[in-house]
Amino acid sequence: MQKLEQLYEGKAKKVFATDDPALVIVSYKDDATAFDGRKKGTIAGKGVVNNRMSNMMMQLLEKEGVPTHFIRELSDRETLVKKVEIVPLEVIVRNVSAGSFAKRYGVEEGIPFAEPTLEFSYKNDELHDPLINAYHARALNLATKEEIAQIERYAFKVNEVLKAYFLTLGVRLIDFKLEFGRTKDGKIVLADEISPDTCRFWDAATGEKLDKDRFRRDLGGVEEAYREIFARVTAKK
Ligand code: TMP
Ligand code: ASP
Repeated sequence: MQKLEQLYEGKAKKVFATDDPALVIVSYKDDATAFDGRKKGTIAGKGVVNNRMSNMMMQLLEKEGVPTHFIRELSDRETLVKKVEIVPLEVIVRNVSAGSFAKRYGVEEGIPFAEPTLEFSYKNDELHDPLINAYHARALNLATKEEIAQIERYAFKVNEVLKAYFLTLGVRLIDFKLEFGRTKDGKIVLADEISPDTCRFWDAATGEKLDKDRFRRDLGGVEEAYREIFARVTAKK
């Protein structure tokens, strides 16, 4: 497997071509941004944690019947994945009120829901990733009705698997964001990452935040939180 030219650089990752047109290499950076890139920083060791943790989650989900882009971990920061066309929807699943949900609806954080919720944001930096519903996503040809239904089924399945898994580590999975892609043969697979950048993790006993909210909200102990959640995940293995 040969690493070729850089195809793309995002806020937290770079993507490189390989000598196989169906595969790309994702390389995780320590760069962190929040609030549409208006807040910038570095979280030492984040790239390693997010790469390795995301790969473990993808492998767990594959075993549980959710197809993913994951092929093989290449190093601490680099992973070989299927090349996909990203569906430009951020898929957010919530179990407990927090973040933009709490703000939008004027409720406290930490209220558990009777059933998980799901919402979409339109992945579009210029528009600042606005909330979008499934009808509007179809009107904009972002995905078909069938694709949206499949994405919703997978997202709730991911929630069931990860919620149960993190509880065994003494961690509550509050909410998270997923992205899906289309493979060359038109199949929907889970893509992007599952990490403390894209999930809210609260310690089940103390409520301590073990995720990127420590960076977003200037709570301190950012690196320690990434190390802590990673230590729990790797201890379990
Ligand atoms: P929110 O409450 O700010 O809408 O975030 C919901 C979840 O999505 C939370 O776990 C953090 C994650 N998230 C991302 O992964 N990327 C983003 O750009 C945003 C805004 C949230
Ligand atoms: N990474 C996202 C951004 O910079 C936001 C976030 O995760 O809070 O827009």
